[in-house]
Amino acid sequence: MQGKCVILGGGGHAKVLIECMRTQDGIQPDGILEQDETLVGKTVLGVKIMGCDDMLEDLKEAGYDTFVVGVGQIRATPFRKVLFDKAVSSGLTPLTVRHGSAIVSPTALVEDGAQLLPGCIVNAQARIGRGGVINTHAVVEHDCEIGEFAFVAPNATVLGAAIIAPGAFVGAGAVVFQGVRVGENAVVAAGAVVRHDIPAGGLAVGVPATIKSRPVE
Ligand SMILES: CC(C)(COP(=O)(O)OP(=O)(O)OC[C@H]1O[C@@H](n2cnc3c(N)ncnc32)[C@H](O)[C@@H]1OP(=O)(O)O)[C@@H](O)C(=O)NCCC(=O)NCCS
Repeated sequence: MQGKCVILGGGGHAKVLIECMRTQDGIQPDGILEQDETLVGKTVLGVKIMGCDDMLEDLKEAGYDTFVVGVGQIRATPFRKVLFDKAVSSGLTPLTVRHGSAIVSPTALVEDGAQLLPGCIVNAQARIGRGGVINTHAVVEHDCEIGEFAFVAPNATVLGAAIIAPGAFVGAGAVVFQGVRVGENAVVAAGAVVRHDIPAGGLAVGVPATIKSRPVE
């Protein structure tokens, strides 16, 4: 049985995570830390917001062993990494969240702190990096590499052997063709169909996707 688990961030993504964790045997969220101090004392699906992120370094002494990053917004990828690293240096261990309905190949490799949300599919020999998110009903096909802290939004499809580099974001319903590489911190817009590589920090939009000159911050 694990010690206590804290969720870092108490917004909409955290709600989904709480419900996912409740489908996993022996795992339950015990408390939340938030950036927004006006939310302290409130609850999210019955889990209390105990304080702000500056409490993180005291949690180990308070009986917490594990953490989940509960921040999910598109521009939050760098922040998710900062929170993750801060939690690890506070002595906490990242928990991998996997909804009971996620289909994960026995030959896939899922690194610590990844999040596999309801109905997602991770196929043969795919790799999901540390802190990566495969959101509701997203499909990650065989041999794909999803880099650390990358985010695959609901209903997106990443076809065989594609690479989603660390920190990249694939928007809802987008399709990334087989073998394509989406570069570090790049963004694929919702509904885009990506047939060619996207450079680091680039923004790919439309069907077929074209690269917008202005990178998303
Ligand atoms: C790509 C995205 C991040 C752009 O957001 P933004 O930085 O605010 O950019 P803007 O809305 O100013 O759009 C920039 C340009 O891309 C176009 N564009 C944006 N999103 C688009 C989309 N999904 N499909 C087609 N064109 C799109 C805009 O029309 C605009 O075109 P213009 O420069 O010719 O005027 C956003 O539209 C998007 O798709 N987000 C993903 C949402 C999502 O999947 N969320 C999942 C949460 S779990």
